[in-house]
Amino acid sequence: SWTPGAFVDLTVSELKGKIGDDKVVLGLSGGVDSSVAAVLLHHAIGKNLYCIFVNNGLLRKDEFESVLHQYKDMGLNVKGVDASARFLDALAGISDPELKRKAIGNTFIEVFDDEAHEITDVTYLAQGTIYPDVIESISVNGPSVTIKSHHNVGGLPDFMKLKVVEPLRMLFKDEVRRVGAELEIDPELLGRHPFPGPGLAIRILGDITEEKVRILQEVDHIFIQGLRDAMLYDKVWQAGAILLPVQSVGVMGDERTYEQVVALRAVESTDGMTADWVNLPYEFLQKTSNTIINRVKGVNRVVYDISSKPPATIEWE
Ligand code: XMP
Repeated sequence: SWTPGAFVDLTVSELKGKIGDDKVVLGLSGGVDSSVAAVLLHHAIGKNLYCIFVNNGLLRKDEFESVLHQYKDMGLNVKGVDASARFLDALAGISDPELKRKAIGNTFIEVFDDEAHEITDVTYLAQGTIYPDVIESISVNGPSVTIKSHHNVGGLPDFMKLKVVEPLRMLFKDEVRRVGAELEIDPELLGRHPFPGPGLAIRILGDITEEKVRILQEVDHIFIQGLRDAMLYDKVWQAGAILLPVQSVGVMGDERTYEQVVALRAVESTDGMTADWVNLPYEFLQKTSNTIINRVKGVNRVVYDISSKPPATIEWE
């Protein structure tokens, strides 16, 4: 029967045999799959694995810095690339969800291709593709599928002409987590909620500005940290906040306010294909709402999304 220990031993030796002294480039996303794929490859080929971690400016608050630090602590040969400005530029004025995804996918390809060219004589592109990605067209996690579905016509970028290594392609998510545990990856990283490749861009309804990203990062941080503090984080499959394109009337002291509304979303699911909204305790919601409205300037109303999938989706875009 399948065990993570046997999988690690076999895969590391197969990767060694296949790759030899060649170089491999891999895009890290901060998610479980790309991280586990990287550590497996690192065991097999060490410094010949070149990891690239791109900050698209649409990650959670402080996530780029903290995860980059964590990757370095794990001994990975990783380069952090802050391309936030480039992504924001590409997104300027775009409100349509699919056009946002295209803009982000294309920018990711450009940034990744530039970085991959910096590595001399690279032979392989490694990806954290898992079995559900192979059989479905949508990835819950990471840029791997985004790359495939959004590349531009007019020829493939050079890194996409590399030979592909996908050490996790036969595994399901829970098996990837068990392999990660076997490799002694931080349980906090392995237990992280799925996060969409386009990040906060699809949780800001309407067009995206730096200020909106900052507001949503603050709101999301209060919500997620609150879930952790209340020991609810691991009871939820995915959670996040959405910045709505409406303003609502509020009151502060004697003043009337007219500010943003945010929605909170937390779902239970096994694979993201169907999902139920989570019945979070009223006290928790009350406290979270108060904290958000008191601390985040520009937000005067918080609502909780009580829709399940189907017919709603997990993301609002
Ligand atoms: P929906 O909104 O379709 O989301 O119910 C199901 C799961 O997929 C994630 N998601 C994405 N992941 N790129 C990704 O990498 C995307 O464009 C994308 N859209 C949705 C979503 O976060 C949820 O886990």
